[in-house]
Amino acid sequence: MSVTIKTRDEIEKMRVAGRLAAQVLEMIQEHVQPGITTGELDRICDDYIRNVQQAIPAPYEYRGFPKSICTSVNYQVCHGIPGNKKLKRGDIVNVDITVIKDGFHGDTSKMFFVGEPSILARRLVQVTQNAMWTGIEQVRPGTCLGDIGHAIQAFVESHSYSVVREYCGHGIGREFHEDPQVLHYGTPGTGLELQSGMCFTVEPMVNAGKRQVKLLPDGWTVVTKDRSLSAQWEHTVLVTEDGHEVLTLRQEELGQRRAAQ
Ligand code: MF3
Ligand code: CO
Ligand code: CO
Repeated sequence: MSVTIKTRDEIEKMRVAGRLAAQVLEMIQEHVQPGITTGELDRICDDYIRNVQQAIPAPYEYRGFPKSICTSVNYQVCHGIPGNKKLKRGDIVNVDITVIKDGFHGDTSKMFFVGEPSILARRLVQVTQNAMWTGIEQVRPGTCLGDIGHAIQAFVESHSYSVVREYCGHGIGREFHEDPQVLHYGTPGTGLELQSGMCFTVEPMVNAGKRQVKLLPDGWTVVTKDRSLSAQWEHTVLVTEDGHEVLTLRQEELGQRRAAQ
């Protein structure tokens, strides 16, 4: 599939889908507490997306995925399947939301702390969030995908963490995963040149230990091979004439996009 350039109308629909996905993360915040299960978080989000937003949770039955959101806890890297394990104090959890509204997708994720995090966990989560923003800051017409990947990789490695290579950001629109693939590592000046009207996600996965990952027997959950902690943040971004627009921005990000380090 080739890279789609969104029309004005399509961009407006992407804005709506992006806003809805962001609002699910805002809604779920207060529920992420010690003792709740990831399965319960899934049910709350599914109900909100379908019944309040009148939208569709894109993960449900996507390539056989059994739930409506992804929840990845501690050493889980991505695509964790919500289940009956209770969250406990000190856990970090990524909640990844993708909604479809009026035929278009919005895809975003953030890390939540359950109770007070360890110093390592807090630092990993902040470095990963700032890695995502470092990538997003590169987005403007004329930038190459390799510039985004390089910026993220250089930032992460300067903090002695590692970037997961097996999973990447992606074009997004009428399809959940469109071209191009947006790698979170790379070489400046290489790869596709950005044009206004493109939409894609930036969603780096960063490990406290080595970058290698493995897939659990459930066929979905990706974990770090060395069982080190992993974090991920994701936004859906539009390339505009003079830069970019983050379509999944939350209220809490309006004043300050980066985390203080
Ligand atoms: N939301 C994930 C992403 O950022 C994809 C999840 S696919 C699923 O691309 F099937 F696991 F939901
Ligand atoms: Co995505
Ligand atoms: Co996602």
